[in-house]
Amino acid sequence: MKMILLRKFRVLILMVFLIACSMHIMIDLLPKLERHGNSGCSCSHTPSEEPQSWGKQGWPNKHTLRILQDFSNEPSSNVSSHSLERIPATGDKTQALRRLEHYGQRGDKKRQFIQDATLAKSIPVKGSRLSALYEHPLYKRSLPPLTNEDTLFNVNTDIRFDPKAAEDQEWNTEGNVDEFSPTGELTADSYPNWLRFHIGINRYELYSRHNPVIDALLKDLVTQRITSVGETVGVVKLTLSLLHIADKPCSLCPCRQTREQETPPDFFYFSDFERHNAEIAAFHLDRILDFRRVPPVAGRLVNMTKEIRDVTRDKKLWRTFFISPANNVCFYGECSYYCSTEHALCGKPDQIEGSLAAFLPDLALAKRKTWRNPWRRSYHKRKKAEWEVDPDYCEEVKQTPPYDSGTRLLDIMDMTVFDFLMGNMDRHHYETFEKFGNETFIIHLDNGRGFGKHSHDEMSILVPLTQCCRVRKSTHLRLQLLAKEEYKLSTLMAESLVRDRLSPILIQPHLKAMDRRLRQVSASYLF
Ligand SMILES: *[C@@H]1O[C@H](CO)[C@@H](O)[C@H](O)[C@H]1NC(C)=O
Ligand SMILES: *[C@@H]1O[C@H](CO)[C@@H](O)[C@H](O)[C@H]1NC(C)=O
Ligand SMILES: *[C@@H]1O[C@H](CO)[C@@H](O)[C@H](O)[C@H]1NC(C)=O
Repeated sequence: MKMILLRKFRVLILMVFLIACSMHIMIDLLPKLERHGNSGCSCSHTPSEEPQSWGKQGWPNKHTLRILQDFSNEPSSNVSSHSLERIPATGDKTQALRRLEHYGQRGDKKRQFIQDATLAKSIPVKGSRLSALYEHPLYKRSLPPLTNEDTLFNVNTDIRFDPKAAEDQEWNTEGNVDEFSPTGELTADSYPNWLRFHIGINRYELYSRHNPVIDALLKDLVTQRITSVGETVGVVKLTLSLLHIADKPCSLCPCRQTREQETPPDFFYFSDFERHNAEIAAFHLDRILDFRRVPPVAGRLVNMTKEIRDVTRDKKLWRTFFISPANNVCFYGECSYYCSTEHALCGKPDQIEGSLAAFLPDLALAKRKTWRNPWRRSYHKRKKAEWEVDPDYCEEVKQTPPYDSGTRLLDIMDMTVFDFLMGNMDRHHYETFEKFGNETFIIHLDNGRGFGKHSHDEMSILVPLTQCCRVRKSTHLRLQLLAKEEYKLSTLMAESLVRDRLSPILIQPHLKAMDRRLRQVSASYLF
């Protein structure tokens, strides 16, 4: 009996789905036709010529119904919070994607809108050095006009529904309603911030300067409910409700070092701890350097009982919770390195600091390419890497694609500067978005091993600069600016970091070290 019902149900779903599909195509075509007639449009974005990718992807039949529910909610009609209550959390994403698809054409305008909003909100704060910096002409250079080739998502064709992520989501069917409050008017404002962040990614940057979405996203990272907790090799991963669908979810960097501790001298860089404050500081530094290649990171105090133990479905992890003799809540989890009570993570008494990074678009939506850093360390206690023994190593690199053309080599130099300022030796690979080919910025992921030592400047990190003697002119000019007394990197960093919930993020000696290192950077390529 059940089987028959189920089968009937499936057939029904299939039929509704087919109808929806054809409706979708029709609706998709209509605005395009209208637009053809409308020559007055000043939008610089051409509609995408790419074929619809539905066929290839194949719809997950299990989720069709939910999609159809969304579909029946015509975007222009009222999306009441009432209907949202029934749709599990996935609705947020599906719905948002739906809207993107329907409003593909408007999506272009929305991109414009996000950029406009950017301009409107950058009102300088009096006496703020950071605002003064961002008002400087060097920080006002604009991007070339963006075409569909230059944005990560062509919102009307590229965005697909990810069934796997949605399955995960089914665990968290309760709640979440308060956190997403659709307004009657469906403008870009009603998209969740993570989606607006993803839409903004382009060939040149992860996010634009003064983008209000980034501040809102940072706030989300601190305030949103944690809905799942998992763990991979010593890093506890927390997932926030609306930020659920992720290949690399927000992670809780176990803070095993206090702010004042330096990395022990006998530690190899690859066995160094990962520091949550380094992840946070790296995001701010990257923004001040105007690279904007680090996904937003915010510090957060997490209640270990309420937000980790009570949330995790990982029984093994759950079992490792205990109360320490000092009456603190601790757990050590199931990791390969530090798994014993001596290496446990303990709260104070039940609160623990962590850094939460906004995830990048799901790999199913936007593939990334991983590249070996040409100046990668040997990761062997005795062996040396080629760049360490060959002074002409850069010549070799310069002749090897993709470093032989375009801006990739200069991007490596930018990354070198960034890593040297932080003292990060652990940069073995880097990533780019596949869509943009070789002509794109490189993403600075995993910065947790920066800011280990403030009393030591690791000159070997600068080797790419000293071997190649090249740096982007704009980077050079900004570094000069940041070395000036009136701007001063350490002061800017302090001002930027004070906004984080876990402030102070860096102790003074680390800030001072950055000023010192900045002078060394310039010396290294200017001679
Ligand atoms: C949306 O719903 C509200 C209240 O339910 C109503 O006042 C409003 O007219 C509706 N808007 C549209 C576009 O249907
Ligand atoms: C953490 O959560 C537990 C359980 O809900 C609660 O009893 C405790 O007061 C919370 N701690 C803090 C510091 O809010
Ligand atoms: C991109 O770089 C790779 C080297 O990794 C090279 O094989 C490829 O031809 C380059 N593509 C273009 C379009 O230059």
